[in-house]
Amino acid sequence: MFLTVFFLLVALCTQGGNGKESEEAQRPGHVSVVIVGGTGDLAKKYLWQGFFQLYINQVSSGNTFSFYGGGQSPTEKATPVLFEILKAVSCSKDVSQERCALLKDQFLRLAQYRQLKSLEDYQDLAKHIEQQLQEEGMTEAGRLFYLSVPAFAYADIAEKINSSCRPKSGAWLRVVLEKPFGHDYRSAQVLASQLRSSLTEEEMYRIDHYLGKQVVSKILPFRIQNKKLLDPIWNKHHIERVEIVLKETLDVKGRIAFYDQYGVVRDVLQNHLTEVMTLLTMRLPKNVSRSEEVLGNKLQILSSMLPLGKNQAVIGQYQTYKAEVQQELNKTKDHVSHTPTFAAVLAQIDDAQYEDMPILLISGKMLDERVGYARILFKNDIFCVQNHNNVHCKPKQIVFYFGHGSLQYPAILVSKNLFKPALVDSEWKEVTEHKDVNVFGLPISDFYIQTPMEQKEAYAELISHIFFGRKNSFISTENLLASWDLWTPLLSSLASTFPRIYPGGADNADLLDIHLKGKDISYNNEVVIISTDQLGGTSTNGFQVMQGKFRSSEMVSAWAEQLVDKLAADIQEAAEAAIYEGGVFHLALSGGSTPLALFHRLVDHHFTFPWRNTHVWMVDERCVLPTELESNFRSLHDHLLQHVRIPYYNIHPMPVHLNQRLCVEEDGGAQMYEKQLIKLVNSSSFHFVLLGVGYDGHTASLFPGGKVDELGDSLVALTESPSKPHQRMSLTFNVINRARKVALLVMGKGKHELITQLSRVKDNPDKWPVTGVKPTNGNLVWYIDYDALIG
Ligand code: BG6
Repeated sequence: MFLTVFFLLVALCTQGGNGKESEEAQRPGHVSVVIVGGTGDLAKKYLWQGFFQLYINQVSSGNTFSFYGGGQSPTEKATPVLFEILKAVSCSKDVSQERCALLKDQFLRLAQYRQLKSLEDYQDLAKHIEQQLQEEGMTEAGRLFYLSVPAFAYADIAEKINSSCRPKSGAWLRVVLEKPFGHDYRSAQVLASQLRSSLTEEEMYRIDHYLGKQVVSKILPFRIQNKKLLDPIWNKHHIERVEIVLKETLDVKGRIAFYDQYGVVRDVLQNHLTEVMTLLTMRLPKNVSRSEEVLGNKLQILSSMLPLGKNQAVIGQYQTYKAEVQQELNKTKDHVSHTPTFAAVLAQIDDAQYEDMPILLISGKMLDERVGYARILFKNDIFCVQNHNNVHCKPKQIVFYFGHGSLQYPAILVSKNLFKPALVDSEWKEVTEHKDVNVFGLPISDFYIQTPMEQKEAYAELISHIFFGRKNSFISTENLLASWDLWTPLLSSLASTFPRIYPGGADNADLLDIHLKGKDISYNNEVVIISTDQLGGTSTNGFQVMQGKFRSSEMVSAWAEQLVDKLAADIQEAAEAAIYEGGVFHLALSGGSTPLALFHRLVDHHFTFPWRNTHVWMVDERCVLPTELESNFRSLHDHLLQHVRIPYYNIHPMPVHLNQRLCVEEDGGAQMYEKQLIKLVNSSSFHFVLLGVGYDGHTASLFPGGKVDELGDSLVALTESPSKPHQRMSLTFNVINRARKVALLVMGKGKHELITQLSRVKDNPDKWPVTGVKPTNGNLVWYIDYDALIG
């Protein structure tokens, strides 16, 4: 019997979620509001005030309320604490003093503290609610549980609510959750599936308080209302870049136990700034209040983001953070935390409308000012010869100003040389009197400005949306996972990166300034510059490089950037020489992340590279589909080939996918590549082979213990890697050592130990495959950056 009733309830709740969330869909009745964590910080600062506001707005709507502050503490202890908090709630200006006093008094009488620890506590709460409904003959509208507790407690509480606190048929259940919703993709997925076993998607309201900020919630309405004017310019051809910024002046003292595990990317970028980004770039919904469409369009944007890697982010940490961590986490003086307190990320959307349009997401603690905004900076194709103050010469921009900063109020600003926007809402007004204030270095009289007539707290706005069941301002499971899917690879790649240390506040000066270069972002200025003199090097061809010997071969060393410049120049020189001699240049490139900087250098600086006469071959490939991120060919394509004018038939991917299967011996992929190579490359002697070396000493896909001598005379072979994906295809030493030039590129501090070891070991290709690289008639050059060389 119970089970039947339960399923009926779930079915009814699910039916309620057909996207038609509106005030009308809501039948009036009694609403029980339960804040679990009701005496905590968030509840104290925002939630009770938000619920009081809801009460004021709804008191004459036919709804009745009871409010419960729940917590772990016993009732006698926590009741006075709760009432102190409740006494501090206030009314907005339009409510008279007498009415406010009356409403406050009622609100306090409707509220009570309940210990909510065990299942019995939840069962008692449910009994209490039912009893009250019965005694007062009230129809139940719904139950709202706000979980203002650490995320590890969610699954357990959700289970208790599910098993004991579901309302009877016809009334709704809404459970509100606060971030963090996981730590990365995996943990978010685990949490989502735990929650899904107790609650339906419709019942969950994941809050991102940025979606309740007045300006953020008007991004879509603004875009819709000004659609005619925006449509022609809302694209890569007209937008120079988008900046989404949250700067803060405070540190994280007192929150380190939480913060140190998360850092700024998880705390702010993955959620608040990502949400703003989707609102700015998503396809406009036909109806902003249709949550399915809004969330679906957001998802579409999240799924078309280009992957974020190390080159798309810079991170920093304020100087005193280390000491704060040591103190709050009881760590010793040598404890170092890599947690970033500042990050700047360059995101891009891989679609026709926005392709290559930089989207900057920036946030940090201990910066010079507290301000949040999203700024769309348009290209200006007017060049003023004389009068630079002419309105046409000024930057064209639209700024969604969330608050604080020089303006001190939330506003939408549109440059006067763009267009005059319509008011987004009847509750907004135009700002006409211009004080002596500058925004991004421009007087505010340069903008049309609109602002809400009354400033409202984000939480109060969102609480009202929850009450009305408007799900478009919340995060669905699918969108949450899509966001983690975007951020997780970057977070993993940053895990071993040292953040740049900054002093904090105005002293940061230009230390955190960033530089955009194609798809990459970097700090604008290097902090530590050691001259080559100090390293005992010489400067050749204008490059700050050191030349010497490594393992009896030639070695070139420099800081990473100069090293890559030098290698790119050497490759171009080899290409020109080969083409001069025989009309063609055969280049074999390896995979992995090390050569990416080289590819970018070739793309961005070597406009005269003779790609038309160059054949690109692969040193090795992973046995995965070419569409997979792990595919060497995919990365070669994405970072190099698609950006240069190389004929299609000059590109030679390794055939790892034949007969709809991957790297099966009988399919003869390796032999096929070998044949192609013999046919096209004179004496199978590449002009240039670029190799890397792995931590275990492997090169190409020739791994330690891989019995290289068993590969016989073959030029190409299927090999096994100890790490995933295990199956590989690789050039063998037979062909590598026939090359005219072989470059071994080694970069990064992480490779220092390996370089030290390699400088000592004898040739032993079985244990250290890279020591098997010994061109018979050609020339081997090691390109080692200073990080790898000197650690
Ligand atoms: C929170 C973060 O979500 O947002 C805080 O956890 C951050 O670290 C805060 O300070 C910023 O919100 P607001 O509303 O002050 O801009």
